[in-house]
Amino acid sequence: MNIANIADLRQLAWQRLPRVLFDYIDGGAQDEVTLRANQQDFNKFTLVQHVLRDVSKRDQSVTVLGQKYDLPLILSPTGMTGLFWPNGALEAARAASDAGAGFCLSSMSTSTVEDIKKVAKQPTWFQLYVMRDRGMSRELIERAKAAGCSALVLTVDLALQGQRDRDVHNGLTIPPTLRISNLPNFATRPGWIWRYLTGPKVVPASLVKPGQNTLFTIAGYVNSQFDQSVTWKDIEWAKSIWGGSIALKGILDPEDAKAAVDHGVDALIVSNHGGRQLDGVRSAISALPYVVDAVAGRAEVLLDGGVRRGTDVLKAVALGAKACMIGRPYMYGLAANGRAGVTKALDLLRNEIDLALALTGSTSLAALDRSAIL
Ligand SMILES: Cc1cc2nc3c(=O)[nH]c(=O)nc-3n(C[C@H](O)[C@H](O)[C@H](O)COP(=O)(O)O)c2cc1C
Repeated sequence: MNIANIADLRQLAWQRLPRVLFDYIDGGAQDEVTLRANQQDFNKFTLVQHVLRDVSKRDQSVTVLGQKYDLPLILSPTGMTGLFWPNGALEAARAASDAGAGFCLSSMSTSTVEDIKKVAKQPTWFQLYVMRDRGMSRELIERAKAAGCSALVLTVDLALQGQRDRDVHNGLTIPPTLRISNLPNFATRPGWIWRYLTGPKVVPASLVKPGQNTLFTIAGYVNSQFDQSVTWKDIEWAKSIWGGSIALKGILDPEDAKAAVDHGVDALIVSNHGGRQLDGVRSAISALPYVVDAVAGRAEVLLDGGVRRGTDVLKAVALGAKACMIGRPYMYGLAANGRAGVTKALDLLRNEIDLALALTGSTSLAALDRSAIL
């Protein structure tokens, strides 16, 4: 079957990954209400169709935090990416770089920031969870700075890890544990088994120390190592070490957005962690216009969560986002076919954005405003 859209890549990922890993990517918190809303709520907005305008030249480039991207997409930070394809983070960074999209490395990644620097053609972003061990957090910020990262992204919606029922059912551990119950499922994914056994060891590369036990549950690791006492003061602490552009990921509330700007944050990423944290919160796209209005141009705003079509990107940009971040769309591509799969995901979205620009009678994505939607 030819791949027409991101949903097809998801289907391929489902065929190729052991279930425990597919569910780790695909799933959300508890009843997955917010996960579903992230996608469905794009339907609350309709695009305005204009005709008989010259749309022969179309431009979807955007500038975010002073950096120009050919594509209005930044790959969201994702942990443990090497589980889905050998050197998954490096492969994704290469694909983003080739496509002119942005890339944000997770502090839970299986590759280090120094590794990413070697493959990315333009500066990338680094995402940090503030750890209880502040010395370690400081060291990570300093390494990202030394590697030339252009923005520090602090993810602030994970004081504790959300309860992901699918992971509980599947008994997810890193690395995945083979059990009699999941043996048949692993056995029908020989390609993944081969790649996993012949690929590099999968660990959160920036966090583990030599000799450390590397069998863990993600929830157990997060809840024991991440600092639950983080407050706005710590944003200033991180900023003082970093010294460059700083973004907060996980903002949904306009009052939090205003506080972030008051604390000197340069960009806000409107996100509910892809529906993986607090189930029952509003979707990213429905929160976006309120955050944009609260910020009133004092910081840049990005949308993260639920983007599966080019038209979703047009709607987000029309509502005031500078660009969109995508998590699962590229993870499905990676799991399906490595770097080529990520490239495919970006190609699909690029073509859909271009088509949507032409058919709405628009020539410049960055010039869209709220008049483009109803
Ligand atoms: C497998 C997986 C791992 C993730 N790991 C992280 C992470 O380490 N840090 C982080 O800030 N967000 C993480 N996220 C959340 C993404 O950055 C992003 O917010 C989310 O995927 C956006 O929703 P979408 O998948 O609908 O695009 C992860 C998401 C997935 C699917």
